[in-house]
Amino acid sequence: MVTDLIRQRRSVRTFDGKALTAEDRSALEAYVASLTNPFSVPICFRLLDAKAYGLSSPVIVGAESYLAAKVERVPHFEIAYGYSFEKACLYALSRGIGTVMLAASLSRAAFEKAMDVKDGEVMPVASPVGYPAEKKSIRESLMRKGLKADDRKPFEHLFFEGGFDRPLSRTNPFAKALEMARWAPSAANGQPWRAVVDGGSVHFYETKSMKDSPLGDIQKVDVGIALAHFDMALEEEGVKGAYSFSDPDIPTPENTHYIVTFGRA
Ligand SMILES: Cc1cc2nc3c(=O)[nH]c(=O)nc-3n(C[C@H](O)[C@H](O)[C@H](O)COP(=O)(O)O)c2cc1C
Repeated sequence: MVTDLIRQRRSVRTFDGKALTAEDRSALEAYVASLTNPFSVPICFRLLDAKAYGLSSPVIVGAESYLAAKVERVPHFEIAYGYSFEKACLYALSRGIGTVMLAASLSRAAFEKAMDVKDGEVMPVASPVGYPAEKKSIRESLMRKGLKADDRKPFEHLFFEGGFDRPLSRTNPFAKALEMARWAPSAANGQPWRAVVDGGSVHFYETKSMKDSPLGDIQKVDVGIALAHFDMALEEEGVKGAYSFSDPDIPTPENTHYIVTFGRA
């Protein structure tokens, strides 16, 4: 079940040094080639050999290859990118392959060259792909502590009903899927996603704490990742719907911006 995968998922930064099996490699390549997202933004994935392209990361140990993706700077590219990349990571996990999205800790110039990133395109993140080592590096253990990576903000601080002044009840029909969104990974574990449920609609927001970089708004990538968890959980429940961009003009707390609405069919 995909919700089991979501619960089980943790970033992996220490790998066993073995290359992906030919079977895993071709399965992952086929999966990312078939990936779509609800925002109809094409994402171009590539599996890259670390040695061949001189790819490295100061936080990664024992990874032979990386999954990278680039996208054109079209409307909604960040949420589409986060959505698709997270689906790829969860698929990898279903095959026992570890991942961690890296926006900052990577030899960016080498990655962008390997991905042939052109004007008008961006490569917000890349992830090592490999088999997790039995023991985490000391650096990884310290990082996880520093980031409070095993924790998330309380449900009641993230999800609301009708407006931002009323926390969402755990018995709301969208509560389970939003709980899955709560466990999404995010840059520096910032968890910038917020949602306001209004009947059959869920309005998603971002809280902005970092400035946009040349890569775009990384918190929107985080929101896209959370949307993937939300969507996959709803799919498992058999709930259908669609996304639209129509700000309901609900009064928002400071630095909180509307992103997208899910409407139940
Ligand atoms: C968009 C994005 C960028 C990230 N960039 C980095 C990075 O540069 N270096 C790093 O070590 N981890 C990075 N991470 C991993 C987060 O630190 C990690 O997801 C978070 O601490 C929660 O831990 P978890 O994924 O194990 O649940 C990134 C995650 C996301 C979603």
